[in-house]
Amino acid sequence: MKTTTIRIFATFVAFLLTACEQPSPPPSSEQPPASAEAATTDIGTWLGTERLEAADTDTANWLAHGRTYSEQRFSPLTQVKADNLDQLGLAWSFDTQSTRGLEATPIVVDGTMFTTGTWSVVYAHDAKTGALKWKYDPQVPREYGYKACCDVVNRGAAVFEDKVYVGTIDGRLLAINANTGALAWEQLTIDPEKPYTITGAPRVANGKIIIGNGGAELGVRGYITAYDAQSGDQVWRFYTVPGNPAEPFEHPAMEEAAKTWRGGKWWEVGGGGTVWDAMAFDPELNLLYIGVGNGAPWSRYTRSPGGGDNLYLASIVAIDVDSADLAWHYQTTPGDNWDYTAVQQMILADIEIGGEMRQVIMQAPKNGFFYVLDRKTGEFLSAETYVPITWATHVDPETGRPVEDSAAHYLDDTKVVRPGPAGGHNWHPMSYSPNTGLVYIPVVENRLAYTQEQNFEHNPDTWNTAIDFRPNSDLSDDFQVVTKIVAWDPVAQKANWTHTHNHEAASGLLATASDLVFQPGANCEFAAYDAHNGDKLWSSQTQMGTIAAPISYEVDGEQYIAFVSGWGGASGLYTTVPCADGRRAESGRILAYKIGGTATLPEAPLTPPIPAPQPRLEVTGAVLEEGELLYSRHCGFCHSLGAGPGGVIPNLAHISADSLAAWDAVVLGGSRRNMGMVSFSHLLSLEQSHAIQAWVLEVANTAAEATSAGE
Ligand code: HEC
Repeated sequence: MKTTTIRIFATFVAFLLTACEQPSPPPSSEQPPASAEAATTDIGTWLGTERLEAADTDTANWLAHGRTYSEQRFSPLTQVKADNLDQLGLAWSFDTQSTRGLEATPIVVDGTMFTTGTWSVVYAHDAKTGALKWKYDPQVPREYGYKACCDVVNRGAAVFEDKVYVGTIDGRLLAINANTGALAWEQLTIDPEKPYTITGAPRVANGKIIIGNGGAELGVRGYITAYDAQSGDQVWRFYTVPGNPAEPFEHPAMEEAAKTWRGGKWWEVGGGGTVWDAMAFDPELNLLYIGVGNGAPWSRYTRSPGGGDNLYLASIVAIDVDSADLAWHYQTTPGDNWDYTAVQQMILADIEIGGEMRQVIMQAPKNGFFYVLDRKTGEFLSAETYVPITWATHVDPETGRPVEDSAAHYLDDTKVVRPGPAGGHNWHPMSYSPNTGLVYIPVVENRLAYTQEQNFEHNPDTWNTAIDFRPNSDLSDDFQVVTKIVAWDPVAQKANWTHTHNHEAASGLLATASDLVFQPGANCEFAAYDAHNGDKLWSSQTQMGTIAAPISYEVDGEQYIAFVSGWGGASGLYTTVPCADGRRAESGRILAYKIGGTATLPEAPLTPPIPAPQPRLEVTGAVLEEGELLYSRHCGFCHSLGAGPGGVIPNLAHISADSLAAWDAVVLGGSRRNMGMVSFSHLLSLEQSHAIQAWVLEVANTAAEATSAGE
């Protein structure tokens, strides 16, 4: 019997897109009415195209997702510096009353902070006092939580002219009046019959709002759509992977892409290639850069058995933002086989390479290479590994193609590959300081055992990766997942310094012009480091694990550092990093710090002890085996099952007697539907549900016995 815990999904992430050509229908009338509370804001200044393009000189504000179009996430503010860090304190906090992940980057315009939370809720706050100006809850039906691979998170809003734009988990793009919090318009950007979700922040370019989506684990086709900012009318849609080649191609780039997909019926699963996080925009070149995700299914042996690069999976794609014509593309992982998305942040900078100023685009995608490309032409300049990898030996400098290592080919046998689907670096924002010339990357060193699923069949109601994850619970060595800050020199293509954390989960970073790097962490600690050498200069407890990145802004001559702090996200579904004092806040918060800040947080409750397991069921080995298989297919991507505390979704090993008695009502009857636990009656029979229950109790008891034997 297995003695190891099953929390193998702790590291996945990927999402993306598809196609729906029909005009967006109005939201379903069954949906509860959306709510806007307390309308009192005046954002003060008209945030138009000109001001957005000059965001870098607007030092007091954080006007766009990455502060400026270059997505550098660098604050030019210097009031908070090494000398006065000891006076850095909490200025204000706001309780979001949410128990799932917070990933947003707030936008600050002239004293108002716009941010988003769990289930795509939107907030406007006074950035100086933290007073709530308005809140807009789009009332996402909680069943949509099933479609979100990596928690019901939202990475932030965009602000343009007088509106705030947000994508919702159920695929809508909202335009909200920035002053009043009232809905101006909304568009359904997806086919609701397909498992699309939106977690990424929209971007603004030339009066258009651009939004992608996710869903490649369950199986969708990726695309981004541009909408007119004022009217909400669709301007264009750009698909990232070809649909059924028997049907007409939507644009010439799809005809080219289709030649690189061979055999297989990828369009039935969707093909993947979702644009679920990063975009960047160069107004001078008029190019929009999109980061494209992994294949659906993950296994290329299933997706495209005849080989081929499978364009434009795992690529950086440059598009003319007005015509939506493809300008160039660079594929980081041709024929992606490991969920190596290239959706990660792309930073635009002008840097000197070999004595010449180059306009570059830089990315540290999941696959472990740090890339520097010419952003005008897509020319490959350099790539080196920023974490240990085993899927490729190097990138050929002549062709710009990676040279794969056959040790990562898992068609016939299980192969343990580094990095795993969590990526060497994921969505957690990195930061580039033009002062130091370094890119500060939140990295995770990890791995996964990849096994080709035998007799894979597309099932539209669940995950469709064509990977059998079970062998991961058999890995018996003591491999440790490690999280670090890597300060990367993009010219020398090597680490300048590294800071290693003592926990396993990444979080976002901010560099400032006073040569500080800020990072709030999974371990409930908010810390500041010397940007030149990584020395830890300051830290403070936050009572809650953070995964998001900080921003900095100024109001009335005072500099603030702020972030949303709410544990969750992909690894947060199944794991929790403890806070140092054993206490933990029960819900997420927005936290803002300044020099001389004296606000305090109420004392957090002690984390409750782990309960003893409910007794095993008397069943045969065959039933347990079936339970294991079904659990790994349908439950393991949300729940954990083992000795640890689990994450924001319950660890089923710790199920109470009452919940166990309600098992059928929950699992088949959908009695917790409104909390995000859907009914599985369309996938499971009563016997199968009981087989899973037997497996859960088997693992729970085995884990508890192993823990007490080790004490
Ligand atoms: C999309 C994520 C997701 C998936 C997949 C999922 N669950 Fe859940 N499950 C949840 C959430 C969220 C809750 C917590 C609901 C609440 O707060 O009451 C939950 C709660 C439960 C509970 C109650 C636990 C308790 O301690 O009260 C049981 C039992 C359960 N799930 C079983 C299953 C089984 C069995 C499967 C696979 C067939 C499964 N779940 C798949 C999200 C998921």
